[in-house]
Amino acid sequence: MSAIQRAQQYRQFTVSPITRHIGAFIEGVDLSQIESEDLKTELRAALFDFQVIVFRNQHITPEQQVLVARVFGDPDKVKSLFPRHESQKSIEKVESTPTGYRYGNDQWHADVTFSNNPPTGTVLYSHVIPPIGGDTLWASGTTIYDAIPKALQDYLETLEAVHTIDNSGWATYFDQLEDGEQQAQNARVNHPPVVHPVIRTHPVTGRKIVYVNPEFTVRIKGLPRQQSDALLNFLFYYFQQPEYQVRLRWEEKTVAIWDNRATVHYAAADYDYQERRLSRITFGEEQAF
Ligand code: SIN
Repeated sequence: MSAIQRAQQYRQFTVSPITRHIGAFIEGVDLSQIESEDLKTELRAALFDFQVIVFRNQHITPEQQVLVARVFGDPDKVKSLFPRHESQKSIEKVESTPTGYRYGNDQWHADVTFSNNPPTGTVLYSHVIPPIGGDTLWASGTTIYDAIPKALQDYLETLEAVHTIDNSGWATYFDQLEDGEQQAQNARVNHPPVVHPVIRTHPVTGRKIVYVNPEFTVRIKGLPRQQSDALLNFLFYYFQQPEYQVRLRWEEKTVAIWDNRATVHYAAADYDYQERRLSRITFGEEQAF
C-alpha cells in the first residue's frame, strides 16, 4: 500500500506523507490534549508507519511533553548525556547559543546506540530556531535494508558491530570544556563499547533495519580494519541518498517524534553559533529489540 493510501486510513487526524518512504505531517491534534485512547492508538500506529511524525504549532508545557512521550514509551528508561531540564529530569536541553557550545549531532546517528538498550523513540520540541539553517534530516533504515541486494542482506545478517561514544560528537563537545578530559573519561567509563547486530528486526512492524551509524558504529566484529571500514562506508553511503531521507525545516513550536529503531538522523550544523533551542525526550522499553 502506498504512503498516500496508508495515510487515508487514519480517523483521529489528518496525515500528509512528506516523502514516499519516511515522514508525515499530522494535523488536527493538540498535543496538550491527548487523553483519548483511540487517539493514542492511532498516534502509535502513525509513528511506526511513517517513522517520523511532525506536528506544527503545538503549545505544550514540559509536563505535557513528558505525557506525549509516555504515549510511546517510558521517558525515564534512557540515560543520555545532554543537560537536563531544571524540574522535568527526563527532558534534555538540546541548546546552542551564541556564547555557548554547539552539540556535534551533525553526523548520522540513532540516539544512544552506544548503550545496550537504546531508546525506541524520541520527542523533540522546538523553542527557538535560527532564521535560516538548523534543519534535521532522517533516513529510513528499513527502506535502506530493502534497497540492499539480497545476497548482501544475507551476509549482513551474520554480522555484529561495535558502537561506542569514543569518536562521536560527544568527544568534540568535551574538547570545548575546561574539564572536558575528565568528562570524556567519565563518559567512557559509564558507556563502555557495546555490540549490536548489523541487521535488526523491528519488534512492532517486523521490518528489517540496517542498524549501524557513522557516529557511534566503529567496526564490524571479526573483519580486518580495512574490510570493516569499506563495508560500513558502503552502508553509510545509502544514508546520503535523498531517496531514503526526509528533511524538516523547523518552525518554533514544532514537535517531531521519530522511531529511533527504524531511523537515523542528522542535525544540519549550518547556523553558525546562532541560537537554537529544543527540548528532547527519549523514550524506551524494557528491551528495545
Ligand atoms: C538529536 O540528535 O537527537 C537532536 C537532533 C537535532 O538537534 O535536530
